Amino acid sequence: MKEGRTERFLDLVALRHSVRCYEARPVERAQVERCLEAARQAPSACNSQPWTFIVVDDPVRKEKVAAATSGGVLPLNHFTRQAPVLVVVVAEPARTSARVGAALQDLPFPMMDCAIAAEHFCLQAAEEGLGTCMLGWFDAQRVREILAIPAAARPVLIITLGYSGEQQAVRERSRKSLAEMSAWNLYPGAAEGAGTDRRGWRAALGLLVCLLVTCLAAAVGGAATARAGAFYAELARPPWAPPGWVFGPVWSLLYTMMAVAAWRVWKTGGLRAARGALMVYAVQLAANALWSWLFFAWRLGGLAFLEILLLVGLVLETIRRFRRVRPSAAWLLLPYLAWLAFAAALALEIWRMNPGLL
Ligand SMILES: Cc1cc2nc3c(=O)[nH]c(=O)nc-3n(C[C@H](O)[C@H](O)[C@H](O)COP(=O)(O)O)c2cc1C
Repeated sequence: MKEGRTERFLDLVALRHSVRCYEARPVERAQVERCLEAARQAPSACNSQPWTFIVVDDPVRKEKVAAATSGGVLPLNHFTRQAPVLVVVVAEPARTSARVGAALQDLPFPMMDCAIAAEHFCLQAAEEGLGTCMLGWFDAQRVREILAIPAAARPVLIITLGYSGEQQAVRERSRKSLAEMSAWNLYPGAAEGAGTDRRGWRAALGLLVCLLVTCLAAAVGGAATARAGAFYAELARPPWAPPGWVFGPVWSLLYTMMAVAAWRVWKTGGLRAARGALMVYAVQLAANALWSWLFFAWRLGGLAFLEILLLVGLVLETIRRFRRVRPSAAWLLLPYLAWLAFAAALALEIWRMNPGLL
């Protein structure tokens, strides 16, 4: 970067503000194209570029889009009618790599990408001497219909564009101070010495605790299944029942995924904030262990079936609570839920087929 540019850039940034009053003077196509070029150069997750900018300057269509930004009871966005151009920013499905990244990080990458590109657009508009205002408040369904936007894409922002009709070129703006909005090396207010050093250990310890608690439940349940192999072989089973050896590896994998899910929730929410979710997780673990005793040790097929239904309910509640803290942790429980549904059907069928034994 060339020296001396920073000050000019900061001047431009200070100049840009949301303009809510426009002259009727038209905007040249070349100016709009330079703003689009600035948006085109924006960074995006995995260079996915998940955006389409729809420039609306046809008066009839523009009036319809403007109406979709200012309808309803709130006296919002009436200035959109004055702007000679409206630009609708449409979020497109991201590349697979960006989608995987977004899911793992629990971050809406396409929204972030669109916002960055939109700001590039607005800064270039300021450079052109044009005013803009980003609008997040509009009837998205209406805009979708007016511009024939397909279902997979989503209009996320509308930018008004035109010559400012305001009296003042620069406006006083309210902003947090640098001290309020930034910090160096540590989160504001964090104790000295907090952070990096113990983080790795704490995370490892958390994972260990989650694995141990989950293994404990598996061991308690496992104690009931000491003779399960022979017993399972004795039972009349439906043709779709898997062979006995399948259960060990499947449960090992499911318990590991469960433990990792609980650990992720703990890591994200902290023990205090995620206490409710982790308590429900612990209760479902206990219900999981109890099922093995009901079915294999005490041979109460009917009760075992009812209890597995209760377990499914508890797992659904765990998933709901985990999702609020960390969606990817909830996903980790989906194979467990699917397996439980299968196990419930199998348990019911085996109970029905073995009236004397269960
Ligand atoms: C995502 C987003 C949505 C916004 N939605 C609206 C809106 O619907 N109507 C409006 O008048 N301004 C809207 N704004 C503009 C903000 O109110 C404005 O950026 C903020 O008050 C700071 O003022 P400034 O842009 O003049 O610096 C929006 C801004 C952003 C970034």
